[in-house]
Amino acid sequence: MPEAEVPPTAKPPFERAPRHVAIIMDGNGRWAAARSLPRAEGHRRGVEALRRIIRAASEIGIRFITIFSFSAENWSRPANEVGELMGLLRRFIRNDLAELHRSGVQVRVIGERDGLDPDIGRLLVEAEELTKANDGLTLVVAFNYGSRQEITRAAQRIAEQVAEGSLKPADIGMETLGAFLDAPDIPDPDLIIRTSGEQRLSNFLLWQSAYSELVFVPTYWPDFDRAALEAAIREYQQRERRFGGLVAKTGS
Ligand code: FPP
Repeated sequence: MPEAEVPPTAKPPFERAPRHVAIIMDGNGRWAAARSLPRAEGHRRGVEALRRIIRAASEIGIRFITIFSFSAENWSRPANEVGELMGLLRRFIRNDLAELHRSGVQVRVIGERDGLDPDIGRLLVEAEELTKANDGLTLVVAFNYGSRQEITRAAQRIAEQVAEGSLKPADIGMETLGAFLDAPDIPDPDLIIRTSGEQRLSNFLLWQSAYSELVFVPTYWPDFDRAALEAAIREYQQRERRFGGLVAKTGS
C-alpha cells in the first residue's frame, strides 16, 4: 500500500464527522485585492483550496460535500470574469476528473443546465457518468445554481404532473417537493460553511438547509485549509441539534 494511503483500520480523526458539508467558497476577489492581484488569480487559488478540501474531506470521513461554484446570479459579473469562472470549471474537470475518479469520488451536479455552453454541459455529464459507480466521497458541484430557481423548477414539474392527472394536489407533501429537487437522493447538509466573513446563504440550498448548522469563518476561501475545515467541524460538534424537539439528536 502506498505510504499516503490511510490503512482501513485507522481511526478517523473525527468520531462524529458531519455526513454532509456544504460550502459557500467566498472571498476570492478580496483575497486577490489584498495582494494587488487580479481577481482571476483569486479564483485560480480558489480551485487549489478546493482540491485541498476535497482531499481533507475524504480523509476526515465526510460522505458528501457540496460546493457553490457558480451561482445563477453570477452571470451579472463582468463578461471577462464569467469567462474566467467557466474556464476554471472546464480546466477543473479536464485536469482533475481522472484523479477524482481514481480516489473513488462520485461527482454530481446541481443547477440549471439550459443556457450553459454545450461543451460545459458535456463535461458535466462526462464527470457524472464516469464516476457514477464510485462509493467514496460524493462531490456535489452547484453550478449555475440558485435555490429559488431549483424550487421553482420543482414546482413546475409538480404542476405538469397534476395537469396530466398523474398526481393529486392533496397528495403533495414536503417529500414530494423534495423529490423533485435536483439531487433528491442526497441527504440535507448537516453543516454549511461560508468563508470570508459574510453571514448569509445567498440563495444556496434554502430548502435543504432547514436544519443545517451554519458556521461563518472570516478566512478568505483561497486560504481555507484542512485546519480551518477541522475547526469548523469542531464548532459544529459543539452545537446541540434538536430539529425542533426538546432533546438533542445525534444527527450523523
Ligand atoms: C466567491 O468569491 C467565489 C465565486 C463566485 C466562485 C467560486 C469559485 C471557485 C472557488 C473556483 C471555481 C471552482 C470550480 C469547480 C469551477 P468572490 O469572487 O465573490 O469574492 P469577493 O466576494 O471577495 O469578491
